[in-house]
Amino acid sequence: MFLSDQLHAELLKHKEELDQKSLHNLFHDDAHRSSSYLYQASGLFVDFSKSLIDHEILRSLQKIPLECSLEDRISEMFEGKRINLSENRAVLHTALRASSDSSIMYDGQNIVPNVHDVLARMEEISNAIVSKQWRGSSGKAIATVVNIGIGGSDLGPAMATHALSPFRVSDIEQFFVSNVDPAEISSVLQCCDPETTLFVVASKTFTTSETLQNAEIAKEWLLNGLPKNPNLSQHFIAISTNIEAATQFGVDATNVLGFWEWVGGRFSLPSAIGLSLMIRIGAQQFSEFLHGLRDMDHYFLKTPLESNAIVLYSLIGIWYRHYLNFSSYAVLPYDSLLSRLPSYLQQLIMESNGKRVNKEGKPVDYNTSFVVWGESGTNGQHSFHQLLHQGTQTIPVDFLFAANSTTAYESSHDALIANALAQAKVLAFGSESEVPPHKYMPGNRPSISFLYESMSPYILGQIIAFYEHVVFSQGVIWNINSFDQWGVELGKGVATSLLPFVQSRNVTTESSESALIKKIHELRLDS
Ligand code: F6P
Repeated sequence: MFLSDQLHAELLKHKEELDQKSLHNLFHDDAHRSSSYLYQASGLFVDFSKSLIDHEILRSLQKIPLECSLEDRISEMFEGKRINLSENRAVLHTALRASSDSSIMYDGQNIVPNVHDVLARMEEISNAIVSKQWRGSSGKAIATVVNIGIGGSDLGPAMATHALSPFRVSDIEQFFVSNVDPAEISSVLQCCDPETTLFVVASKTFTTSETLQNAEIAKEWLLNGLPKNPNLSQHFIAISTNIEAATQFGVDATNVLGFWEWVGGRFSLPSAIGLSLMIRIGAQQFSEFLHGLRDMDHYFLKTPLESNAIVLYSLIGIWYRHYLNFSSYAVLPYDSLLSRLPSYLQQLIMESNGKRVNKEGKPVDYNTSFVVWGESGTNGQHSFHQLLHQGTQTIPVDFLFAANSTTAYESSHDALIANALAQAKVLAFGSESEVPPHKYMPGNRPSISFLYESMSPYILGQIIAFYEHVVFSQGVIWNINSFDQWGVELGKGVATSLLPFVQSRNVTTESSESALIKKIHELRLDS
């Protein structure tokens, strides 16, 4: 266990007591519950009142950060200590949004000027594209930008570019291609004109096979579609820590934007990986986005742990995972601009904290990350909310919604908010008991609601940083390394070794897949 025996026993006792209570009782016993559990974390309001906690449980949970020295661990991360032990790297995504006059030392050097140099280059590039000065090889202005990348090099830019679409500064069309499935890039290319299309190849390592394969398809498509002897450097930008590999692929060195080993892929949106977002919202609003992240970093760093909403959220997650035995967690934005947030958070949370050994390499004897999933409201209500309300397991939920719409359709927005509030209420309190069993809703199903003024670059930055620091805090509590992802490696190697068997019917072997591979060859249309 990651807690002292004494604290563990204390929490087990609270669990027994809580079994005798419900959210109904908790609200009944505390007339001020709805206001006393409403926290402000920088520009976000977080309502914890419908969480399965009371003040005694909270008091015990608040001993956890002391036991795991969370405060010291936070300082270590912000100061650039090499806390990613298995890769011997610092974890400094917070430096990506540091103000230009700050100083963050890494390996004896202040890294902030480098961060701002890259931001300045991003600004030059995005201004040139948005103002139609960036021209393709035949002289026509670029009208379409396709981001090719996967994981952190796709999910962040794709999520944010959609979320901030009301703040677009130009009519540049933008697409995202991630999957190695050729159906994806084909359908995008059908909407593009080679003469006016620019590809942003985003890959921290520039070794990711899906991205390289799609980049090769893009190159071939340009060569086939452009007038003779095109200058491809006008159609490619690369974003990578591996500048050599990017230039070897054929990207002009001046069109390669660098970043650094101390930025994890799933934390890289505020780096050059955010170029697609900057193209969508312009450099000035991108800087507001960074400001939102920075203010939430500041909140996390400076707010005492006992009143820190990020820490409280993290502790409630620990309470649910270990004492109430919940294993699944739903993120339900009642803000369709955040429709890609659940996918983004899946990588952020599960790739970070889906770990089975601790920092010392020993198997843990406790559970780690929730399974995270979700969908924007109200769509989910007409789909899986049935299970949330009447299924056999309790799945805690995050609701996210804005007080104001970014549109003029206020009455629809009011309906949206009323639905979010209604879902949280019904999950918490259920139905009257005098109804037929099939209509009965047991309630006592917890949720946390995030409220913000309205979606904006600043608010999006705040939401991202909030969840990033939750991931970090829970990783510290579980004593795991949240910043590596070795579990994705084996599958990549096995795919490479199986490829020859898929490619040629003449290569055969007896293996767990051989019958399936044989069938694939039988079904091939050219067989
Ligand atoms: O395979 C997992 C992973 O390494 C993620 O952590 C990362 O975000 C993604 O692949 C893409 O990696 P890259 O940016 O190096 O192409």
